Amino acid sequence: MNFKNELIELLSSNIEELDKATIEKLIETPKDPKMGNFAFPCFSLAKAFKKAPNMIAEELKTKLSSELFEKIENVGPYLNFTINKETYLKQVLNEVFTKKDKFGYSNIGKEKNVIVEFSSPNIAKPFHIGHLRTTMIGNAINNIYKALGYNTTSVNHLGDYGKQFGLLITAYKAWGDRETIEKDPINELLKLYVHVNQEIENDPSIDDTARAWFKKLEDGDKEAHEIWEWIREVSLAEFKRVYDMLGVDFDSYAGESFYSDKMPAVLKELREKKIVKEDNGAEIVDFESFGENLPTALITKSDGSSLYITRDMAAAIYRKNTYKFEKNIYVVGSEQSLHFKQWIKTLDLMGKEWANDCVHVGYGLIHLAEGKMSTRKGTIVKLEDVLNKSIEKTLEIINDKNPNLPNKELVAKQVGVGAIVFQDLFNNRIKDYTFDWDKTLSFEGESGPYVQYTHARACSILRKFNDMDLLDINYSLIKDDEVINIINILSKYETTIIQAGEKLEPYIITRFSAELAKAFNKFYHDYSISDSDEETKRARLSIVYAVKTVLKSSLALIGVEAPEEM
Ligand code: ARG
Repeated sequence: MNFKNELIELLSSNIEELDKATIEKLIETPKDPKMGNFAFPCFSLAKAFKKAPNMIAEELKTKLSSELFEKIENVGPYLNFTINKETYLKQVLNEVFTKKDKFGYSNIGKEKNVIVEFSSPNIAKPFHIGHLRTTMIGNAINNIYKALGYNTTSVNHLGDYGKQFGLLITAYKAWGDRETIEKDPINELLKLYVHVNQEIENDPSIDDTARAWFKKLEDGDKEAHEIWEWIREVSLAEFKRVYDMLGVDFDSYAGESFYSDKMPAVLKELREKKIVKEDNGAEIVDFESFGENLPTALITKSDGSSLYITRDMAAAIYRKNTYKFEKNIYVVGSEQSLHFKQWIKTLDLMGKEWANDCVHVGYGLIHLAEGKMSTRKGTIVKLEDVLNKSIEKTLEIINDKNPNLPNKELVAKQVGVGAIVFQDLFNNRIKDYTFDWDKTLSFEGESGPYVQYTHARACSILRKFNDMDLLDINYSLIKDDEVINIINILSKYETTIIQAGEKLEPYIITRFSAELAKAFNKFYHDYSISDSDEETKRARLSIVYAVKTVLKSSLALIGVEAPEEM
């Protein structure tokens, strides 16, 4: 329910001369609240009505009536509208009561398919703090699209293919030990990888061996395939541990290797359509020759092996055929922006009219106080370590502030992880940010723990009154400004989700949850629930219930849990 939309309807059914979009633009919000909630200036009607604007306002006033507005007045050339607060409260709250955790959801995506690809780490490499962004932005976008009614498919396009696996197999055969690796897979595989790269410097023939192993892998050799599959499995087990902590899962783990047998067809089509040309034994797309302002892309190397970019094209074609997507979203760091421009343009040149339904959603970097991470220097910050540290710090705070809290460990996990996710999704995704422990774990201001704490507080109030029956509410008892402020925020939840989906920006939801929490805390500070009479108590509790429901729902959209006690 949206008063502005209702007002537009009301005006447009009485003013044939103006279309709804024009009416919408004309509606103003009076600076002085005594002048009502909306104002409509009649100047632009003077010509059509052949009358002075004041007279038009006066005339229109007699024609307009609606139970949504308790006062419609003409003041000079303006019509002023004051909403009926009771109707407003009743409509919004009733909608929350009936839709509950689906309040704010819409069905604009009904029967449409969307793919959201995110996380997509490279196997046998550490899952580091940099992966937090793609994982949580992607997860939030996936949730937001679901709330908009789309059928979504979340895909983890694992980096599980390419020449480096030839190297890794070579290293494993020369220096690897299965048992040692199984104890600490990613660290041990990383060590092997670093080691083999050092060895190559003394003995370049290792490179040939590696190439041969990758060729074997591509040709389906049993031993090569077995080792590769085992590496993939142990890596994925480690990644899944982090996904579990973050509460993230995927509908598909079809990574790069999944497309190895689908590449020849793409290459054939590229050749037939003369999109690629030969260049010293390699194949390239020369965008300039098609009048496109993009640097040349390498599609196959001179040794015939295919590349990352070709796998992305094969993947997009496969997804279009399999999922009939309306949109195919890639949440990948902005540093890969050129890569995406190149292959999407190549699909476009191939005549795929859906090419531009593939959307790259970029994001900025997380800076660490301790400086840049480097695999070689061994300064990789593993995401799992950061999450565990946050959980530990949160447990310390709980032990200090609320030592008797039941399920302390679970709550510490929900709050510790939530704090990090909330901070990650607090700003426009393109912005870089610096990781800051104090800000992340603050229980005040715009932090995850603050919003979670507000939710837990609302739960505890409701518990105290034993989830009182919220029927038969006398809304005239709670027409206060602080309540109307909360209702204004609740009533824009649906358009907030729509906007977050259109802009592919989870921060819009994050900020919404912080705004709602703040408005609620103001209300809670200013009005007593325990000391009021039964009827007022019930009416105020209905606000508490609505806020609790929508706080939990908005946190869920960004992938943050909402404990009931903390
Ligand atoms: N595995 C890649 C990396 O770690 C990211 C993959 C992004 N997705 C894609 N379809 N190219 O850099």
